Amino acid sequence: MISGDLFPASTGHAVQDEPLCEGAMVLRGFALAEQLRLLQAIETIVAQAPFRHLITPGGRRMSVGMTNAGPLGWVSDRRGYRYAALDPDSGKPWPAMPEAFLQLAGAAAAQAGFAGFVPDACLINRYQTGNQLTLHQDRDERDFDQPIVSVSLGVPAVFLFGGLQRSDRAQRVALAHGDVVVWGGPARLRYHGVLPLRPAQHQALGHSRINLTFRRAG
Ligand code: SIN
Ligand code: FE2
Repeated sequence: MISGDLFPASTGHAVQDEPLCEGAMVLRGFALAEQLRLLQAIETIVAQAPFRHLITPGGRRMSVGMTNAGPLGWVSDRRGYRYAALDPDSGKPWPAMPEAFLQLAGAAAAQAGFAGFVPDACLINRYQTGNQLTLHQDRDERDFDQPIVSVSLGVPAVFLFGGLQRSDRAQRVALAHGDVVVWGGPARLRYHGVLPLRPAQHQALGHSRINLTFRRAG
């Protein structure tokens, strides 16, 4: 369990920078001050583009529920991984990127040393008890000069932050509600993943964890 004094959520302003390696940093509590706006925006997005379980190119159903906001959305099916302007389930554009998302992602990137980050894609991942994301690289984007900003909400999780080879030993990083991880530059293609979500309860999100992953895809 994440202890209250390590992450003083009660102040709503706790920000601590915790480097993971060159180009990667955990910003503890960075999203807390905006949590209500973020949660409301997620509700609006999910009402238009519900979470769904994508199929991997290998035919496996992903346990993590996914949806997107912004001009581009990350999708997977038997044909491969890619970014698409239209939600394949509805045939309509993905819900717009909320202003609160853009502001938070830009501010977190700047805090980690990547000024001027303007994401065009926000992947929203929903983990329920037992769901995990195996080690992978984010490499479907056009330009690896732009960082990745990853926001954790709800139930805490253990984030795996590996190296540039899948076999490199991964650091285990406990991520709580409001924590933000940024990786870019020499860390942009590091392998990462999430261990199976342990049973826990969050006052706004129940048994779930929601992760917002911001990227410049196009
Ligand atoms: C991802 O790699 O897409 C998500 C990481 C996370 O959920 O923290
Ligand atoms: Fe990823």
